[in-house]
Amino acid sequence: MADRALLPPLPDAFSDRLTTARSYATWLLAHGVQRRLLTRAAARGDLIARLSVDPQVVADPFATYEQLRARGPLSDNGLVHGTVDHAVCNEVLRSDAFNTGGGHAELPVPLRRLLHRLLDPAALGPIDPPSMLVVDPPVHTHYRKQVARAFTARKVGRLADRVEVVAERLLDELAGTDEFDLVERYASLLPVAVIADLLGVSEADHGLLLELGNRAAVTLDPALTWRQYRTADTALRDMHRWFADHVASLRREPGDDLISQLATDTGPDALDEVALHQVGLLVLGAGFETTVNLIGNAVVLLDAHPDQLAWLLADDERWPGAVEEVLRHQSPVQVTLRAANTDVEVAGHTLRSGSGVLLFLGGANRDPAVFTDPAAFDVARPNAGEHLAFSAGVHFCLGASLARLETAVALRVLYRRHPQLRLAGAPARRRTRVLRGFEQLPVTTRAHSSVG
Ligand code: HEM
Repeated sequence: MADRALLPPLPDAFSDRLTTARSYATWLLAHGVQRRLLTRAAARGDLIARLSVDPQVVADPFATYEQLRARGPLSDNGLVHGTVDHAVCNEVLRSDAFNTGGGHAELPVPLRRLLHRLLDPAALGPIDPPSMLVVDPPVHTHYRKQVARAFTARKVGRLADRVEVVAERLLDELAGTDEFDLVERYASLLPVAVIADLLGVSEADHGLLLELGNRAAVTLDPALTWRQYRTADTALRDMHRWFADHVASLRREPGDDLISQLATDTGPDALDEVALHQVGLLVLGAGFETTVNLIGNAVVLLDAHPDQLAWLLADDERWPGAVEEVLRHQSPVQVTLRAANTDVEVAGHTLRSGSGVLLFLGGANRDPAVFTDPAAFDVARPNAGEHLAFSAGVHFCLGASLARLETAVALRVLYRRHPQLRLAGAPARRRTRVLRGFEQLPVTTRAHSSVG
């Protein structure tokens, strides 16, 4: 093979153009074609397509989930199947007959393969292989084993005090400020501080990570426009460059954190450099891009249900149950995707090998067959924990116990300090479609200034 160092370097402008051309081809395959098909189908009123690309439906998908449910446990729009049925979602997520489709289960298998060849390792996102989210056993089992040791119940339990200290500190910093943006000043900062600790990231980098994470979060969504894709692609490239520096510095001075362990492993199980990036960046991003939404969603729901907030304030032990109900009612991850890896029968439909199924977790969590009066928010609901907000099966969220702990502590500490906390203006939703949460959440800690 030719030694690349012997070849004359490409002029910058030419190499930039090549990168852009590769990004464009990747976008076209991963998003562009699908966007056109889904937008047309949505215009015809197709429910699955509207749930994927219609901004109004995405902002409030619950009525559309019910329309889809009325059509039966599994629907097929000719492009992809979709379900809001709790039993079907659970079955598919746990079944060996389905896999992740390499992150693009909606594409025909040959296109998926082509896309995987095109992907640029310098810009891989959370649903590009070899991200843990989109690799299947046995590779997935191997990665998961490497990471799971940092998230055992015992290790997470030991973090409780640390989470509380960070929460108190953030609220101390707000002393004297009785109106602030809860997302900016609290809900986003707490998870990033906790996951950064676990991954050996210094406090100086928290702001940069939040900014890059916010720009890249849209890459979980289907059918992006070229402009959305470009913005996220740039953020991902910046993130990979930052992570390469981070790994290099941990290799020089390893700490007691997960990335130091993975980066200095020289044994037979060691991850190669691309896998190290994908695993590390996934855990990092998942660690702060999701819990922020759970905390924000909880505050908005409790603002609308002051009687339930009063009930929670009477007993600290009630917060974990409330967190389960928020996860169920306003699931921070609304949808995931699987592909049949063989011809398989599901809910009376025969799915051909390669067929994609959209699993609307947020709809499954409103299934009346499992949850009584599912649209009602009830922090004392006895079976709220049966939700699928953290998925199920081999990809069940690795950070579930951490997210539960962080959110219960975040809410308990927040409302203990500010029992009068109310919204101080209309919250602004994030525009992401897979992730459901708020970008801005103005609150006041003064009594009786709630906006209806
Ligand atoms: C409210 C907070 C969170 C929610 C709702 C959530 C949700 C999810 C869901 C639905 C999946 C599986 C997707 C699928 O099956 O296709 C998942 C996977 C994952 N989550 Fe979370 N997550 C949260 C917080 C966290 C945190 C705090 C961490 C980090 C420590 C984390 C790390 C991961 C990882 C590494 C995976 C991939 C697991 C695998 O593929 O084996 N998550 N999460």
